[in-house]
Amino acid sequence: MSDRVTVSVIKADVGSVAGHTCPHPNMMRACYEVLKNGVADGTINDFYVTRVGDDINLFMIHERGENNSGVHGLAWDAFMDATKLAKKMKLYAAGQDILTDAFSGNIKGAGPGTAEMEFVERGAEPLLFFMADKTEPSAYSLPLTRIFMDPFTTTGLVIDPRAHEGYIFEIHDVVNSKKVIMASPEEGYDILSLLGDTTRYAIKRVMSKNEKLGVGAVVSTDKLNLTAGKYVGKDDPVMIVRAQSGFPAVGEVLQPFMFPMLVPGWMRGSHYGALYPCSVADSDPSYFDGPPRMVSLGMQVSNGKFQGLEDPDSPPGEHRPIDYFAGSVWNNVRQKAVEMSIYMRGHGPFMPAILAPEEMEYTTRPAVLEKLTKRFEDIE
Ligand code: 13P
Ligand code: 13P
Ligand code: MG
Ligand code: MG
Repeated sequence: MSDRVTVSVIKADVGSVAGHTCPHPNMMRACYEVLKNGVADGTINDFYVTRVGDDINLFMIHERGENNSGVHGLAWDAFMDATKLAKKMKLYAAGQDILTDAFSGNIKGAGPGTAEMEFVERGAEPLLFFMADKTEPSAYSLPLTRIFMDPFTTTGLVIDPRAHEGYIFEIHDVVNSKKVIMASPEEGYDILSLLGDTTRYAIKRVMSKNEKLGVGAVVSTDKLNLTAGKYVGKDDPVMIVRAQSGFPAVGEVLQPFMFPMLVPGWMRGSHYGALYPCSVADSDPSYFDGPPRMVSLGMQVSNGKFQGLEDPDSPPGEHRPIDYFAGSVWNNVRQKAVEMSIYMRGHGPFMPAILAPEEMEYTTRPAVLEKLTKRFEDIE
């Protein structure tokens, strides 16, 4: 076995029951079967199939590096089988995130979102998976800057010698497809100056300054609506974070989610709502297609495979991760997120409940303006 492992999370919404709510269990099972065959034929070592709201998330671990056509092809086949079932059952938005008919070796640009990280497995390797529904990649910018830059969130930045060195950020301009590498704490204020504009900038990757540790976090930054050039669904983003021993502790990684921040993307991809941290089971949108959900699952990486709460010799794919936001400590945040989301709804179709005009997934404004061209007059 190589000492480097790659964790790939590939996700897509390929249809759901009764609106943008929940994929059918048979779709999840179809994905499970494809990935199980991927273990049997040696493409991947292990996997886990889960979901947040209407998005199916495939967690895979292998030794093939990032952007591997075999691994991407496996995810593609899984989503194709799930799409077929969704179409057969005439589910809502069947095949929503599938933008092409043919797979060309890399799933990027084809619709599904990807977050992948390759690293040398440490003596103990705790991994957190975040999955969001009804929002977009910039939703991770505030929590990630708190986790990796803010000593009032991560005391480790002050007291853990390796965290104390700071971290490197790869920031993407998702509109222009450009990236910039910046260092914290040296360029902390410059980093925030970019990331504060959540319509344009998002964090792709965070790296330790310690080369042996390598990557600390990675986010799927695929902007589906831009990829497609028209509205085809939100970019409901995923994130992977490595924790402890030179990286922030699990508790430091989870802490920022105690703040129910406002994020863009719920209801028709066109509104701001408060982020609601919850379990997988509680992730079905239930009020105004939201509020935007955030789920966090934890597993160890152990000898190139995943290890959760199941027996160590259970078959690949049969995992029981920690479901961090399932617990009652998060009730208070959920309650606040609901109150804040109701408050935002009070604005109806007015800003700041709706997004800025260029960010709206739906709009009638060009047509309305066209109709009114002749009626607009100069104001004296
Ligand atoms: P333990 O002492 O329970 O291992 O915890 C260490 C730690 O860093 C928790 O944040
Ligand atoms: P999804 O992106 O989760 O499919 O939601 C679309 C939407 O706009 C729901 O109102
Ligand atoms: Mg959907
Ligand atoms: Mg979704």
